[in-house]
Amino acid sequence: MMRGRFIVLDGVEGAGKSTQMPRIADWIRKRHGEPVTTREPGGTPLAEQIRALTLADHDEPLPPMAELLMMFAARSVHLENLVAPALDRGQWVLCDRFVDSSYAYQGAGQGGRDEPIAWLEAQIVAARQPDLVFIFDLPVERVMERVRQRQAMDRFDRADTGFLQRVRDAYLRRAAADSSRYCVIDGAQPVDVVSRVIIEHLEARFA
Ligand code: TYD
Repeated sequence: MMRGRFIVLDGVEGAGKSTQMPRIADWIRKRHGEPVTTREPGGTPLAEQIRALTLADHDEPLPPMAELLMMFAARSVHLENLVAPALDRGQWVLCDRFVDSSYAYQGAGQGGRDEPIAWLEAQIVAARQPDLVFIFDLPVERVMERVRQRQAMDRFDRADTGFLQRVRDAYLRRAAADSSRYCVIDGAQPVDVVSRVIIEHLEARFA
């Protein structure tokens, strides 16, 4: 049985990830069978509980290192209990956000160092790296607009321009450093154009 492929959609909020998820899932379904579609933080009942705890407002501060550890606690559960077993069965996995979010938000955004993140990544993700990561990109002003339009604001949505700029730059830096695994998607393009670009990329990569 051939191992499944692990595809990640990541990037700044409001750049169209959620709209593209079902379209990419359709493409996978037609060619490679039913995919597992999932998200981080979360994806399993236990990891979703960690997500709720991590994103909620609390009456006391959540120290940045605690937040980082909770992201990776959820990731560990998700990888062990859902992602790795699916890939081993030969199923494809399509995941909304992964490790790059930790580098972008807990690292660049909040001014945390990359070293602890890289260490956690080495322990928890290890060789289970995605085969392909689409980074959805959008200028920060557009991100702010879309975040403001959204109804539910979680703790992470109340960010300032400087924060979002650092997050966006981190994604672009990471994508530029490894063009074999990353593909930057211009989220300002019409939805159908974005879908076409993504599908062309998938066809070329996994023909
Ligand atoms: P999500 O619901 O996917 O946000 P959005 O719909 O805005 O894309 O993710 C929730 C938040 O979690 C998002 O603001 C990014 C944050 N996050 C981190 O800070 N670190 C991480 O490692 C992950 C996976 C997510």
